Amino acid sequence: MNRAALAGASLAKERRDLKRLEANEEADSESREINQPWLDPMANQNERQFASDIKGNLLGQKAAQLPAWKAANKVVSYGKITSLSIQEQRKSLPIYKLRDQLVQAVRDVIVVGDTGSGKTTQMAQYLAEEGFLEHGRLGCTQPRKVAAVSVAKRVSEEVGCRLGAEVGYTIRFEDMTSPETKIKYMTDGMLLRELLVDPDCSKYSVLMLDEAHERTIATDVLFGLLKKACKRRPDLKLICTSATLDAAKFATYFWGCPIFTIPGRTFPVETLYTKEPEPDYLEASLITILQIHLMEPAGDILLFLTGQEEIDTACEVLYERVKALGPQVPELIILPVYAALPSEMQSRIFEPPPPGARKVVIATNIAETSITIDGIYYVIDPGFAKQNAYDPKLGMDSLIPISQAQARQRSGRAGRTGPGKCYRLYTEIAYRNEMLPNPIPEIQRTNLASTILTLKAMGINDLINFDFMDPPPAATMLTALEQLYALGALDDEGLLTRIGRKMADFPLDPPLSKMLIKSVDYGCSEEALTIVAMLQAGGQVYYRPKDKQAQADAKKAKFHQPEGDLLTLLAVYNGWKASKFSNPWCFENFIQTRAMKTAQDVRKQLIGIMDRYKHDLAKKDPTEGYKTLVEGTPVSIHPSSALFQRPPEWCVYYELVLTAKEYMHQVTVIEPKWLSEVAPTFFRVADQNKISKRKASEKIEPLFDRFATNKDDWRLSKQKRATR
Ligand code: CDP
Ligand code: MG
Repeated sequence: MNRAALAGASLAKERRDLKRLEANEEADSESREINQPWLDPMANQNERQFASDIKGNLLGQKAAQLPAWKAANKVVSYGKITSLSIQEQRKSLPIYKLRDQLVQAVRDVIVVGDTGSGKTTQMAQYLAEEGFLEHGRLGCTQPRKVAAVSVAKRVSEEVGCRLGAEVGYTIRFEDMTSPETKIKYMTDGMLLRELLVDPDCSKYSVLMLDEAHERTIATDVLFGLLKKACKRRPDLKLICTSATLDAAKFATYFWGCPIFTIPGRTFPVETLYTKEPEPDYLEASLITILQIHLMEPAGDILLFLTGQEEIDTACEVLYERVKALGPQVPELIILPVYAALPSEMQSRIFEPPPPGARKVVIATNIAETSITIDGIYYVIDPGFAKQNAYDPKLGMDSLIPISQAQARQRSGRAGRTGPGKCYRLYTEIAYRNEMLPNPIPEIQRTNLASTILTLKAMGINDLINFDFMDPPPAATMLTALEQLYALGALDDEGLLTRIGRKMADFPLDPPLSKMLIKSVDYGCSEEALTIVAMLQAGGQVYYRPKDKQAQADAKKAKFHQPEGDLLTLLAVYNGWKASKFSNPWCFENFIQTRAMKTAQDVRKQLIGIMDRYKHDLAKKDPTEGYKTLVEGTPVSIHPSSALFQRPPEWCVYYELVLTAKEYMHQVTVIEPKWLSEVAPTFFRVADQNKISKRKASEKIEPLFDRFATNKDDWRLSKQKRATR
């Protein structure tokens, strides 16, 4: 097949659009609770109800008209075409053969089994059926909220109960459980928060740390905490599941407990590599999909991409290209999968395509292990994932090559239904030489401030001797301790302060918690609450359809505040509030109703306490643009910002996102002297005689350079800060 013929002429434009969209890309692994603009708020609001069966589900809003490429899939509503009844399906799973053994062995066990063998959905039911949950619940953690929700939904169907009754889930800002709930799926972060108030997990009989191989920070911390809890509560049963064979390490960590292996049922997968490195993995992916669709025998396709915006764009481009090929080409059903997917779509990805059609699922790494889609014969693996790689200087998401273990896991997805093929869009040499054997645990690569705050609030002060399976690097720990010290959450001794303890109560980044708490003193907690709540809705507040961009931008500009993006968010919320939270108001103003509902919901839950604290600071350099004050990193105001046209002298930002440049998001104008007023431990007004010309012109300097000082003893570096 001639690649050029498939590529289409509009590629350059697509690339431009993609570049623009990249700015909003977001990793699935992120813990944010954001509902993406799945639905088009500009269209008929009454069309149908998505996910309305899920009471209180943030996603459960009236649907609007879907864009063509999404709407085209809508006809696939012929239900679950499957010859097996739900109970027969349960019995056909690999785990079923081990049911009795498993139930007998349940007392701290590691369970290893391929994705789709039934670990997540079946084990909880087996234990419930055998009476293990008479005196307490089973809690099953998931690294991703979308998995927690979809699995809870599936299990409630299998059990035959309403979601939220015997089977429920809890994710941040959303609780779908009731007193009768026996099987509770939740994010690992939620269980961590529960342990804060109930370290003995007294409500639970069984805890299942699912997808333990993912090694999220929360799961890693839970390992240590639950190990302790089990000593205090011998009746508490602990199950860890893993999709990889790295289980021996887990077993050693948990008192040498038994390992249960569920025999897989996989077929051989032929692996194909590219001969040359692919300069444009997205383009290569789409071409590969079309090649498979036109030339390979029946079987569905799974493509791994890195984030929601990229996936939506890929779906859209692919839809147009298939359409351009004409009606003689068989139907290709295009289905996106990522964390913020409405549950209606979530169930559709599991449905088989109609006869003669082929399904292509375009997913983030969520489809590596967290969810299983049957019928996949072809996997396309560009070899990248978006991860929250903490650069101690900047702290932002980046695109990184996956590990060999992930690559194998991705290929394996092609061999569940029959012999399959995996197209790796990288060379075999790259696989062997450039990819790490295993991914680096999150705890060793991300900002630990929030985790450390939680641990401190649980009374765990000796972090160096905390029983981590793989301890985080000392430098990362110290950076986090320093951030918490700078926020006033820890004192000179590294002990939790009163305000630090209050901060730990918020399921937020420590700077946002501090902002809420302190806003009380400044008499602006109403506003601070709104801003924090709006930040939880992230970049999804404004709606900017391709064909009405100018109109949308003009509407947005009406909200722009001279102080910047945060107050602009406040103005948007207040405008919506003044309209009595009306949907037509959102429609007229190109605002995403769903994001606003999220903010409203989050705001409700945050009402209580608050303040304001500095984020990394940026000063405009007349020749070079902005640089961060502490690290001197060049940064730019994002074009979507209210301040893009009128860049201020000084500003603070909420986050940095690296795309074409390092862009500041959510920018607010400040006076530099505020810094020394509100953060005296971090900034002071510079002594004009002792500082460089440049610094003198700035009249302010950070008290110490966190990244240049000796980090072996954070107290020492703090002292330096005080005496310099
Ligand atoms: O946890 P593990 O990967 O071992 O498997 P599971 O999530 O328990 O899934 C077992 C089977 O249940 C899968 O093969 C799917 O066929 C089905 N399932 C589903 O239909 N819908 C879901 N949301 C989850 C699982
Ligand atoms: Mg599972």
